[in-house]
Amino acid sequence: MAPHRPAPPALPLMPDPIVIAIDGPSASGKSTNARLVARKLGFVYVDTGAMYRTLAWHCLRKRVDVQSARAVGSVLRSWKARLVCVDQKARLEVSGYFPEKEIRTAETSAAVPHVAAMPVVRNWMKKVPRECLRFGSLVMEGRDIGTHVFPETNFKFWLDASLDERTRRREAEGVMENLAARDERDSQRAAAPLMPALGVVKINNSGMTPEESSELIIREITRKHGALR
Ligand code: CDP
Ligand code: CDP
Repeated sequence: MAPHRPAPPALPLMPDPIVIAIDGPSASGKSTNARLVARKLGFVYVDTGAMYRTLAWHCLRKRVDVQSARAVGSVLRSWKARLVCVDQKARLEVSGYFPEKEIRTAETSAAVPHVAAMPVVRNWMKKVPRECLRFGSLVMEGRDIGTHVFPETNFKFWLDASLDERTRRREAEGVMENLAARDERDSQRAAAPLMPALGVVKINNSGMTPEESSELIIREITRKHGALR
């Protein structure tokens, strides 16, 4: 395999790291587009959904009740989770292990919105993704990056596609899931619900390829960055 070389920065270097926030519902293309944008800009990619999934997986493995905020809060105080950056990607490791496959199972997907709705979890998950700034400029994707984690950033995107198209995308990956139910749970919760931030750039990418939609995002970042200098 060719050695990984980070892409040269496509934007002139800034004195402070910048954060690109990408939010939206399931299968709207957040991970795919965020990865492409991060690679093209030479930024670090951060998948905050994977962090919530890692917590849900750990709770299931430890037989912790994922509906009990007290039990999950106690896990957050005691688990050995560490933020690391590998190949320009930030991730949470638990006791030195990253459960890459385990966090994508149907069991974990069903458990994650329960833990994600707990204020104790959201407070923890606001702090930890912000610590990624120590790795440099970031492309961070999730549900509340523009509204809660980095509300101060000037670079906020909201991706979407029709429910039919999003369901087809997941089926093509071999995943049968009721996406509408998870989106509904994420949108209805009181703590940091799934919703577009003020001033967000909305991109409906139904019918676009990931290359096309990520190019649109980069064009918008370059335009805004130029205007801000
Ligand atoms: O990739 P997919 O859209 O299926 O989900 P994900 O990004 O891996 O996120 C899994 C779940 O974590 C979501 O359904 C939310 O319940 C939660 N999540 C959140 O609440 N806030 C975030 N910033 C990221 C994920
Ligand atoms: O992270 P999220 O759950 O929002 O979506 P994803 O896992 O990145 O994307 C789901 C599928 O949408 C992937 O198979 C992508 O190839 C596809 N897709 C995309 O990301 N962007 C488009 N403009 C069109 C399709």
